[in-house]
Amino acid sequence: VGCLFLVKVLITDPLEDNGIEVLRKAGFDVVVKTEWSPEDLLSLVSDIDGLVVRSRTKVTSEVIDAASQLKVIGRAGVGVDNIDVSYAKEKGINVVTAGDAPADSVAEIAFGLLLSVARSLSEADRSMKEEKWDKKRFIGSQFSGKVLGVVGVGNIGSRVVRIAHAMGMRILAYDVVAHEELKERFGVEYVSLEELLKEADFVTIHVPFLPQTRNLISKKEIALMKKDAIIVNTSRGGILDEEAVYEALVEGRLRGAGFDVYSEEPPKSEILKKLISLPSVVCTPHIASQTNEAQEAVAVKTAERVVKILKDEK
Ligand SMILES: NC(=O)c1ccc[n+]([C@@H]2O[C@H](COP(=O)([O-])OP(=O)(O)OC[C@H]3O[C@@H](n4cnc5c(N)ncnc54)[C@H](O)[C@@H]3O)[C@@H](O)[C@H]2O)c1
Repeated sequence: VGCLFLVKVLITDPLEDNGIEVLRKAGFDVVVKTEWSPEDLLSLVSDIDGLVVRSRTKVTSEVIDAASQLKVIGRAGVGVDNIDVSYAKEKGINVVTAGDAPADSVAEIAFGLLLSVARSLSEADRSMKEEKWDKKRFIGSQFSGKVLGVVGVGNIGSRVVRIAHAMGMRILAYDVVAHEELKERFGVEYVSLEELLKEADFVTIHVPFLPQTRNLISKKEIALMKKDAIIVNTSRGGILDEEAVYEALVEGRLRGAGFDVYSEEPPKSEILKKLISLPSVVCTPHIASQTNEAQEAVAVKTAERVVKILKDEK
């Protein structure tokens, strides 16, 4: 093998085998190393052409500077908030993601959380396991005929729209771009964030984590919401202000909330512990993409995009 010219790809977070296979089949020298210290990482990247990460590896400017041959960073997932994307671009390094590969799985869990909160599914299950029959305690609300507010209608949000439409909901959307197709097919009404929060019975968040979306929904915004509204966050911690949600829930200004993502993962702060322990809150440990289908699709799509860039570079 002409080792001198072998293209080297390093994988620093666990990746499904079928993604690794795509990289190997392309003829690359693929190194999988998922245990490393920050110092190790700086030396590991020194001679690589491609880097594949999930969310755990923080690709800082320091890491990018240490990777002098790097041409592409593949994020096996969607949010790129663990990568210094602007610095990578400055250095001529491409950043690719898994695109819409996990979108169905995330959209489905957003509804799972909404349903679980609206119908007290977790609480009802817990009470059954305690051998109780609390039929009267669990009066929920129906989705059909209600208003769903979708904050961010990209790959995931647009799938949420499709599900909501099938459930007979009226759909309000807030985004920086309005897709005509969603208006025509599902009757989506694009409104301001304020209007969405005022009118929606259920709110679900699907925007990326950016400086502009940090605390996008905080105290002031939650104050606009209906008293019996439910909000879920499956996008990123820090977009929905958890402390503001906690206060609204304990003061009876909001009915319930669901979280898959947190400003601190795993959550350790007092406020997050208090929030998670509320019966009106349903929580999952960042598992929206944790399905066999999403994991495989994410690994393959990211790997294919990395291959394309490295082949085009040759
Ligand atoms: N919980 C999980 O495991 C999980 C899995 C996948 C993705 N995510 C999160 O979900 C987010 C959305 O994923 P996606 O695939 O739908 O992304 P996407 O890029 O397809 O869609 C994001 C949408 O948000 C809109 N947007 C961007 N900035 C905005 C702003 N300031 N105000 C209003 N709208 C804005 C965009 O126009 C776009 O329509 C990701 O960035 C990621 O953080 C979480």
